[in-house]
Amino acid sequence: MVFKIMPLAPKQHIRAGFCCGQESLDHDIQTQASQDLKKRVCTVFVCIDEPNMTVLGYYTLSAYTVTVTDLRNNFAQKLPRYPRLPATLLGRLAVTQTCKGQGLGKLLLIDALKKSWHTAQQVGSLAVIVEALDAPALNFYQKYGFQPFQQEPMKLYLPMQSIDKLFSPI
Ligand SMILES: CC(C)(COP(=O)(O)OP(=O)(O)OC[C@H]1O[C@@H](n2cnc3c(N)ncnc32)[C@H](O)[C@@H]1OP(=O)(O)O)[C@@H](O)C(=O)NCCC(=O)NCCS
Repeated sequence: MVFKIMPLAPKQHIRAGFCCGQESLDHDIQTQASQDLKKRVCTVFVCIDEPNMTVLGYYTLSAYTVTVTDLRNNFAQKLPRYPRLPATLLGRLAVTQTCKGQGLGKLLLIDALKKSWHTAQQVGSLAVIVEALDAPALNFYQKYGFQPFQQEPMKLYLPMQSIDKLFSPI
């Protein structure tokens, strides 16, 4: 397989059979994502096995804000006390059932973090935020260092300073 990640091209990429086990995420890529993309609510990136145009996995990114007091104290205490602080939302991330367990989720996550990190060089963002839909998704994100918000255990963040260590040249 030659996985390639690229922006969603609604007229070219085949999304009808996408099935990741979470109905909301299947519905999203099949019907909602192209509308959200058109309205600039988020960007949508898909993974295909070129030259096959069937979508095997996808994720979305958007600008977001967080309230400093929602973050854990060890991170929040180093931040300025502005009412809202800028972040990046990794709104959805999913892999179709037939491709699970082959490293595609990790590939998509790393790609999303890299894009978020590059964007944060131009527009400030203190963390990447995700919302886990269930316990397996929570475990998946925690494996990569995401930490839960204080009052919302299914909402997690990874500080941009941690992502710096992955992609910064020095
Ligand atoms: C979560 C999801 C994206 C993982 O995708 P995947 O392609 O199966 O995962 P990968 O094969 O890339 O796994 C990467 C690593 O995460 C681990 N992992 C995968 N799922 C995991 C889970 N539920 N709990 C803990 N670790 C997990 C793998 O063991 C692997 O570890 P390794 O690199 O040490 O071997 C996929 O299961 C999915 O689409 N789930 C439904 C949608 C969803 O819940 N999305 C997230 C919330 S929006």
